[in-house]
Parts: sequence; C-alpha cells; structure tokens
Amino acid sequence: MHVKRLSTALSLLLVGLQAATGNAASPLTTAASQTVVISSWDLQSSAKTPNDLEALSKPGFDTSSWHHVKSSKCTLMGCLIETGVYNETNLFYSTNLQKVDEKQFLMPWNYRNEFSLEPGSGKHFFLQTHGISSRADIFLNGQQVASKSEQAGSYVGKSYEITKYVNKSNALAIQVHPTSYYYDFALGWVDWNPWPTDNGTGIWRDVEIRQTGPVALSPLRIVTKIGDTYDKLSQPATVALKAKAQNLENKPITITATGTVARITDGRPIPLIWTKTFTIPALSTTDIILENTVQNPAIWWPKQWGDQPLYAASISISTSDNNNQISDLQSANFGFRSVTSKLNSYNDVTYSVNGVPFQVIGAGYAPNMFLRFDPIKWETELKYVLDLGFNTVRLEGKNEHPELYDIADRLGVFLMPGWECCDKWEAWSYNQDLAVPTPVWNNEDYKIANESMLHEAAMLQTHPSVLTFLIGSDYWTDERATPIYLNALKANDWQTPIIASASKRGFSNLTGPGGMKMEGPYDWVPPNYWYDVEPYASRYGAAFGFGSELGAGVGTPELSSLKKFLNQGELDDLWKAPNKALYHMSRVGSEFTTRKIYNDALWKRLGAPTGLDDYLMKAQIMDYEATRAQFEAFGVNWNAKRPATGIIYWMLNNAWPSLHWNIWDYYMKPAGSYFGAKVGSRKEHVVYDPVGKSVWLVDRSLSTSGGDRKVEVEVVDLSGKVVLSQEYQVARYPGASNRVGSLSGQGALGGIKDVVFLKLVLKDGTKVIDRNVYWVSKDLDVLNWGKSEWYVTPVTRYADYTGLNKLATADVSVTAAAAAGKGEVVVTLENKAKVVAFFVSLNLVDKDGNDVLPVRWDDNYVSLWPGEKLTLTARSVVGSKGIWNPSAVHVGGKNVGKKTVRL
Ligand SMILES: *[C@@H]1O[C@H](CO)[C@@H](O)[C@H](O)[C@H]1NC(C)=O
Ligand SMILES: *[C@@H]1O[C@H](CO)[C@@H](O)[C@H](O)[C@H]1NC(C)=O
Ligand SMILES: *[C@@H]1O[C@H](CO)[C@@H](O)[C@H](O)[C@H]1NC(C)=O
Ligand SMILES: *[C@@H]1O[C@H](CO)[C@@H](O)[C@H](O)[C@H]1NC(C)=O
Ligand SMILES: *[C@@H]1O[C@H](CO)[C@@H](O)[C@H](O)[C@H]1NC(C)=O
Repeated sequence: MHVKRLSTALSLLLVGLQAATGNAASPLTTAASQTVVISSWDLQSSAKTPNDLEALSKPGFDTSSWHHVKSSKCTLMGCLIETGVYNETNLFYSTNLQKVDEKQFLMPWNYRNEFSLEPGSGKHFFLQTHGISSRADIFLNGQQVASKSEQAGSYVGKSYEITKYVNKSNALAIQVHPTSYYYDFALGWVDWNPWPTDNGTGIWRDVEIRQTGPVALSPLRIVTKIGDTYDKLSQPATVALKAKAQNLENKPITITATGTVARITDGRPIPLIWTKTFTIPALSTTDIILENTVQNPAIWWPKQWGDQPLYAASISISTSDNNNQISDLQSANFGFRSVTSKLNSYNDVTYSVNGVPFQVIGAGYAPNMFLRFDPIKWETELKYVLDLGFNTVRLEGKNEHPELYDIADRLGVFLMPGWECCDKWEAWSYNQDLAVPTPVWNNEDYKIANESMLHEAAMLQTHPSVLTFLIGSDYWTDERATPIYLNALKANDWQTPIIASASKRGFSNLTGPGGMKMEGPYDWVPPNYWYDVEPYASRYGAAFGFGSELGAGVGTPELSSLKKFLNQGELDDLWKAPNKALYHMSRVGSEFTTRKIYNDALWKRLGAPTGLDDYLMKAQIMDYEATRAQFEAFGVNWNAKRPATGIIYWMLNNAWPSLHWNIWDYYMKPAGSYFGAKVGSRKEHVVYDPVGKSVWLVDRSLSTSGGDRKVEVEVVDLSGKVVLSQEYQVARYPGASNRVGSLSGQGALGGIKDVVFLKLVLKDGTKVIDRNVYWVSKDLDVLNWGKSEWYVTPVTRYADYTGLNKLATADVSVTAAAAAGKGEVVVTLENKAKVVAFFVSLNLVDKDGNDVLPVRWDDNYVSLWPGEKLTLTARSVVGSKGIWNPSAVHVGGKNVGKKTVRL
C-alpha cells in the first residue's frame, strides 16, 4: 500500500512522502487527507465468475481460484504476465504472440480487492480512478459506484464519493469491458507493432481510496510568473496555488487554507507559509487561490542549459468547528520556468524557454506493449536521452503515469504529451486515414473527450517538464472538440503552448495553425535528403520547420539482441530474403512490414551482404549515417532563412523487440542509430553538409564559455593517403550555427574518385571537444522528390560506397580496464595500420558473454586514422536495474578483426 501521509505543518514540506501500511486488517486510511493506492488485485474472466457484480463486491466472496496480482495496475495481458500465465520473453520470441487466444478477451473481466476502513461522522471517503481501459462498472459492498457509461475512456479519471457505502470491511469489484481502438478512447498502436491481444483492456492506472474531512480539495494547480526575458529571470516570481474546495456537508463551513512553498533541496530560502480563510456555502465548491511572491526564484532549465531546482507546494485546509483538524491537503512539486511559442512567416512554430529560443531535439516514445510501466526503466531511458544530447521526448497519446513526469522534472528533459492519431481519438468526418469501422464522434464521445482532457490537464499542469500539449496528432480537432479541449486546459490553468496538431493539414480557428509538419519520411532516405535547403526549403521532411515525427526508419538491433527474439530462419531472412514481410517489423497491413526500401539501398550502396555478420555491419553503417545526418541538418539549419525549429525522430524506443524505428532497441542496447544520433546532437559540433560540401559549427550552448575554437579538417583516401589537411580558427556564437568553410575545391572533396574519409575535429586550445568522421563517396544519392510518398522519397541513383569493402584490414590494439568502484570501463584503441580502421565497435560483456546493459559509451562505432589513438569510456547507468559486471570488451569493425579483450 502506498500512503501519502501528510498531516503536520512540518510534513507539509515533505511532498511525496510515502509510507507502507501493515496487514489487510488495518484500515487503508486512518486520517483525513490520506490517499492510498489499491495495491493488489484478484482477477478473473467473467466466463468463470457469476455474472453478478453485486455478489462479487460483497466482502467474503471466495476468490481463491482467481489470478492474484501483486501490482496496483496492469492490463489483462500485463496481469497474466505477472501471474505467470504468459511469459513476456517467450511471447516476444518469433511469432509466439500470434498464438495467444484473443477470444478470452472478447468478454468482460473482473478485478477485485478487499480492504478495511474506519467510517465515522465527519469522515468522507472517495474512490478515485485515473483511467481504466476502456469502460468499467464499479461496485463497492454490493452497491454500484459507477456504470460503464460513467467510467468510460482510458484517460477518464474521477473521484466518486463512496462515504455512504463504506463499512469496516469493504469489497471492491471492477468489471472491465473489451476495448476496441475504433469505438473506444484507448491507447492504440496504429502501425508501430502488433496490437496487444487484449487491446490494453484493464486497470492500467492506479485506483485509490481517499479520506477527507468535511471539505475536500481538488488537485493543486500552480500558476507561476517569472521575468519574461533571459535578463529578467532574477526578478521576484509570483506563484498562485489553486484548488477547488468542496463542502461535503449540508451547512456552510469556514475553512483556513494554508499555502506552503519551499525549495526541495536543503532549505535554502525560508519556506513560505501563509493562510487565508474562506466560507463555503453548504454542499458547494469554492476555488481557493493563495498568491505569494518568491524572491530570487531558482529557475528550472532543460539539462543542457542549467539546473532543475524544484519547489514543493501545498494547500491544506482545516475547519474551525473541528478543532482546526486538517480536512484535506493537496501537494505538488513545481519549477519556475516559462515556455512560449510563436509562428514565423512560414507558419513554423518556434519554442522559447525562459525567454531563450529553444530548438526541440528528441524522439517519439513507445510504452511497453502491455503498458507495463517501470519507473526505473524510464529513468534509464531519460538518462540515454540526455546522453544523446536530446532535450525532448514526444508522448503521442501515451501519457503514462505521474512518476514519468516527476522523473523528467528531476532530470531536466522536456515532454510533449498529447492525444493520439489514427483511431477513435481522431474520428473526424474529414479524416481521410481512418480505418473503415471507426464512427465519427457522438455526444457521449465529446463528453469522454472533455473528461479525459480535464483529468490529464490536472495531472500534468504543475510539471515543469511539460513543454506543450498537442490536442491533435495527424489531424486537427473539429469545431466542437476544440473548445472542449481548450476550456478543459484553461480550467486547469494551463500555462504552456497548446498545439492544434502535429501536422499542417488544417486547424481550428480557435487555435490557429500548430506550426508542426508531418510530411514523412518514415522509411529509408539518404543523408543528403535532410539538406534540401534554399532555394527549396519546402520539400517534405527536410531540415526546415518543426518535424513532429520523421526519420529514415532505422534502428537495426545488433546480433546479441536479435537472437533474443528471432529464430535461425528469421535471422537468415534478414540477409537472404531482403524483401520478405517480417513479423517484427511494423504491424501487418502497414507500409512497413518489409525492409525492402532500406535493403535496396544497403545492397546498392554498400554491396550485397556476404553473410549475416556482413549484413548487420552494413546495417549499422546505414543506421549511423541516417540518424547523424538528420540531427546534424536540423542543427545546421537552426538559423537558416527558413529555420529548422524542432525535430522529433520517429521513434525513440520500441514497445516490443522491433527491427526498426528506434534509437536503441527493446533490450536497451545502443547501436548505430544511437551513436549516429549522439554525434549529430552534440552541444558543440562540427558538421559536414554533403550538399553544400561545407563545414559548419553548430553551437547549442546557452551562453559563451571559453574562447575561440579551432576546426581541423583532414581527408584520407582508402589507401590511407592524406588528401587534404587544413584548419580554421572560429569565433563562438552560442545558440547558433555558422558556416566555417567550403570543401568543394578540386584539392578537397571536389575531385575525389572513390570513397574517402573526412575527419573534423573541434578544439578548445589543445582540448578536443568534438570529433566527427564521415565516409564520403564520389557522388551523392539522387532523390526523386516528385515521386515522394507520405512515408518516403525514392532514390533514383545510389551513392557508391562499395569501395569500403576493398579496405585493407586494420590491426587495432586494444587495452581495457575497469576503473575500480566507479562503474566505468576505459578502453584505449590504437590503429597500427596504414589505412583507416573503419567503424570500430565496442561491446561490454559479462563472464557469460552477455551484453552488459544499460551502458553509456562516450563514443562508439568510431573510425581511427592511421596511427591514431583514442580513449573511450563506458559508464554504468546509476539507478538502473542492470548489474554492472563487465568482464570483457568485444571489439569489431568493418575492416577490423573481431576480438575479445578481457578486463
Ligand atoms: C520467461 O522465460 C524465459 C525464457 O524461457 C526465462 O528465462 C524467464 O525466467 C521466464 N520469466 C519468468 C518471469 O518466468
Ligand atoms: C457493514 O458490515 C456489517 C457487518 O458485516 C453488516 O451487517 C452491514 O450490513 C454492513 N453495512 C453496509 C452499509 O454494507
Ligand atoms: C481489438 O480492437 C480491434 C479493432 O477495434 C478489434 O477488431 C478486436 O476485436 C479487438 N480485440 C479485443 C480482444 O477486444
Ligand atoms: C466539461 O466538463 C466540465 C466539468 O464537468 C463541465 O463544467 C463542462 O461544462 C463540460 N463541457 C462540456 C462542453 O460539456
Ligand atoms: C474560420 O475562419 C475563416 C476565416 O475567417 C472562415 O472563413 C471560416 O468560416 C471559419 N471556420 C469556422 C468553422 O468558423
């Protein structure tokens, strides 16, 4: 049981404190203002129970034959995995998921729990939901609390007063009804992966019991105001704490409301505590507003730009006719930061954070297919996000749980929540892309949309990590839904930009244009695709404007991961049957069931694979250059005539073991797409633009530190001969991208006959701050823009990189040592050959040869010049579940023999 126990004045400052209750016989709540999560469930299909919720919800009903779940929340499949009926490892292997019987989920299922309470005069009890997929009947002690038309919608959370049903012994029964993505407001998957067999049906978010005194509070809303430009951030800030106080008694009540605000880190400023009294008429609701001023506010920044100071706030209320006992309390953490947005003359949106223009760099999030949210995994994922140099994660209708936002607040990553595409959520008459059975919204649907938005807005409002809310995804909301969403956000004092949709297909007059584009690509395009700059700067996903979901579709897992979910035949198919539909690609029926477009390019550009290892090496080369080019081009064009204002790579991670659309794979293993994205997103970064044949310095810093920089440029050919060596002295322009020089001359890259390697090194004095190696072919890939589809722009002639297959073998000496007690492994590589050691990969393994994950390498898949020495460090991810027990490093590379180096 999780108890939020906050009653004394002092503990008001310790927001988020949770304690554990004892055995089931002791009451769940013992005082006003406690909220306790129902921490376990008995679960059974309605086919195996009496069809009588009244009986099921009476104390003492025998559930010994049911499934017993020790989680506070799980979908039906999630629960059945937890109880061992299914095993996720096995389910995700090969095509096993197809074998799960869907029929068992075409009927209602029952969740049940028993608990004690201590009813008494002046005490009020509530049952709080936060979303059940997708409809539920709720019974307590033989009485109906809510019907499936009240508790409808996966994001509808309600507070039902249950005082009159509560007894010392209580039984709660919740019957969940099958979810259809076409008819219900659920969490759908479109083409991402096969749909979970139960369509996510069940208690996927916590259900809580809450006790209050005669006056109950709604969740806290916190409105902050800070100086509106960077120069004014040290000005005093204002903060308003707001909550609705509901008088539950049939008489007027006078309350004293106490507001508190305090920095969460060790008591720097004196905590603010202040009070105000209100009289609330019988059975009425009053909005409590407590305003104050905070001198020298500590400003919350995204991680790349500063610290994440958090404040704890609370409102507690006491009633004078009850010995000033606490009647209720609500608390939340918040940060002082501002987010604004504006549209430029192209109708592209640009965000500003704390008055500073902010380029959004990130990717799209996928929860676990069975919605098994794990805060530790999420924290690890956000640490990867920061390691990558990203600043934002887009959550498209997968808004998860409050902990997700708490962790992002703490780590300094922005989130873009919103509603999802392609199913009931976007069933507008003008939506061209809906599956046929989806009916347009009826009156009940608008009601569910209202309740969903009200709940999510209340959950999100206080979190500094929430950058924005997208009320539409692929399509804009209609003229009836738009004001419903906007009013629900407004009722919750929403403070960050509200975006009409993630695409430029249309908008409601009430919102105006959203300023984001969704023009693809989702499948493979060559690196030069992104540099479709002036005079065009208008074609599809190229690096201009705000791309809400786009990428070359890459993310091929390495062999150690592939073996966890593919059988031998499926592994062979990867290189022997390049056009075959594969179950671990996108969902059947989508455009992305094969790797044909990608493989066509791989075969033509790098040569037909000679085996699985050769295929996977070539795939990592393709993946790396694809993500690097995308993030680099958006960096280069940040201050172009038509600026590149934001980029959300499609996607960050996968809901299950997938063969594409990720920055790291399902097993958290970073590979080509990760390290390409990581190089491309570095804070201070030298970039080669293959179209302009020029070198750029992209500087994503907030302000200047250190002096001028030096850029060293070197080109060598396949035999290791130096073709070009020159350097530039460059001034720093934080928050901008600048052209350093051209490499188009005949003596540089203008006259090359075959593949060459280009190395760009950025130095601060003698210190290397960035190092970036390209393989450059004689000619670029040629795109046929006129034949573009929504998901790809085809290539009519491929760049020829087959010269890479002729590279002589390079001998690379490797030493590796574990830094004792530091969770670090330091590897030193030295290229002893006369040729470049190309695409050298390092992988940490334990004594059994299994990957050591999660891991952060400061660089990987590196290419070393003849004679060059590089030191790379691998770090454990603190707070992750991974056990840090590396015992060796596996080394490989395009022209480097495989070897194992013991630590
Ligand atoms: C699931 O199956 C895998 C492979 O058979 C096994 O290693 C793992 O322990 C199982 N998991 C559970 C929770 O039983
Ligand atoms: C409360 O429990 C007692 C003892 O089981 C029972 O007699 C009584 O009817 C219950 N009251 C309600 C309102 O369910
Ligand atoms: C899941 O949703 C799809 C689409 O609405 C529907 O065809 C299917 O029957 C649903 N499955 C279950 C188990 O409800
Ligand atoms: C949305 O719900 C709120 C709260 O119940 C209500 O006040 C408002 O009228 C609803 N809006 C619509 C359009 O039904
Ligand atoms: C939106 O505004 C445009 C331009 O003023 C107008 O022509 C159109 O009718 C409006 N649409 C609606 C649905 O109000």
